[in-house]
Amino acid sequence: MKSGLRWLPLLLSTPWLCFGFVAASAQPAMTEAETLRLAKSDYVEHCGGCHGIQGKSAPALIPELRDRIGYFLCTPEARAYLIRLPNVAHSRLSDNAQLAEMLNFTVFGLGGASAPAGAPRFTAGEVERERKRVLAAGSLKKMRASLVDGIIRKCNAPASLRDLYPGQTKAQ
Ligand code: HEC
Repeated sequence: MKSGLRWLPLLLSTPWLCFGFVAASAQPAMTEAETLRLAKSDYVEHCGGCHGIQGKSAPALIPELRDRIGYFLCTPEARAYLIRLPNVAHSRLSDNAQLAEMLNFTVFGLGGASAPAGAPRFTAGEVERERKRVLAAGSLKKMRASLVDGIIRKCNAPASLRDLYPGQTKAQ
């Protein structure tokens, strides 16, 4: 009879083991508000120093993102360009899901109405794939020019999108 008691500690601890397992695996997913808060602070930390906290970089000669960067979701190549930019692909944000959310904040938040209606959000898988195809700095200008031509034709974007630094080049 005594030998039956050998299992008693295990039996008693089983519910606690299960509870621990469930508690560990049920780490609550971040709420939408928390995801957005993290994406915003990631943007401020990794991009805002150059592009401005509100996406307005003038008077520095850094591309404006505010109310225009969403246009790049218009074509698959232009969408991929956003991830393949050296400053984005090589961002210290190594977590692809986190970088995807930060890009979502950039294009849908800062980009505002320039993002085409119904454009899908960036995903971790897409970021993982495209950030490996980082663009060479020397080819950026040419590539951007041809992407923007396509965006203007297809999505009726304003011709001013051709200008990397709107408001800056005119003043010079
Ligand atoms: C050191 C300054 C700097 C940092 C940091 C930086 N960028 Fe940039 N960004 C630039 C410059 C300069 C360009 C113009 C293209 C180039 O030279 O890379 C650019 C281009 C872009 C463009 C293309 C705009 C267009 O109209 O073609 C996007 C989008 C962009 N950056 C987003 C980001 C995001 C998102 C981050 C944060 C991960 C970031 N950048 C970090 C300086 C910076």
